[in-house]
Amino acid sequence: MKTIIAFSGSNSSRSINQHLIRLVAPLFTAAEVKVLDLRDFPAPMYGIDLEEAEGIPESMQQLMDEFRASDGIVLSTPEHNGSMPAFLKNAIDWLSRIEKKPFLNKPMLLLSASPGARGAQSAFEHLNAILPYRGAAIVAGHRVGSFFAKVEEGELHAEEKAQLIEVVRQMEKAVLE
Ligand SMILES: Cc1cc2nc3c(=O)[nH]c(=O)nc-3n(C[C@H](O)[C@H](O)[C@H](O)COP(=O)(O)O)c2cc1C
Repeated sequence: MKTIIAFSGSNSSRSINQHLIRLVAPLFTAAEVKVLDLRDFPAPMYGIDLEEAEGIPESMQQLMDEFRASDGIVLSTPEHNGSMPAFLKNAIDWLSRIEKKPFLNKPMLLLSASPGARGAQSAFEHLNAILPYRGAAIVAGHRVGSFFAKVEEGELHAEEKAQLIEVVRQMEKAVLE
C-alpha cells in the first residue's frame, strides 16, 4: 500500500493545523497515512555559519528520510504575519541543503487553517507559489477558515468534510498513478 506522510507547519501544542491533519488522515482509504509532528524534528535557526561549523542536524536528515520513504505529502500551514510560520520555513531551509528539491516531485495536498475567515489564504498562496520550485507536485489544495466554527466536539462539519474528501480523493488518485 502507498504511504502518505501528513504534518502541519505548526510548533504549537494546541495547533489547529495539526488538528486538521488528524481529521484528514482517516479520510484516506486507498493509502496509508503516517501523521508526523514537526515538533519531533527540532532544529536550530538555519545559518550558513552554523551549517559550516556543525553540519546538518540529525533531525533534518530524519525528516528528509521520511520524505524519501513516502509516496506523497499532506502539509497544512498556519499563517504568521501573512506567510508560513518561521518554524516551517526553517525546516524547509534545512531540507533544501540536503536536497535541492526536498519534496522530491512527490504529489502534495496543501491545506491551511486559521481561526479567521480567510483560512490562512496568504500563507497558502505563498506555499502554493514557492513549493513547486522545491519539488512539490501540488495536486490539490483546500483552506479551512473559521476553524473553530467548523469543528464541533472534535469533528468537522459535514460540508467542510465533503470538500476535504474531494481533495483527498484527488490526492489519492495522484499517488496511485
Ligand atoms: C506571530 C503570529 C502571527 C499571526 N499572523 C496571522 C496572520 O497573518 N493571519 C492569520 O490569519 N492569522 C495569524 N495568526 C493567528 C493564527 O492563524 C493562529 O494562531 C492559528 O491558530 C495558527 O495555527 P496553529 O494553531 O496551527 O499553529 C498569527 C498568530 C501568531 C502567533
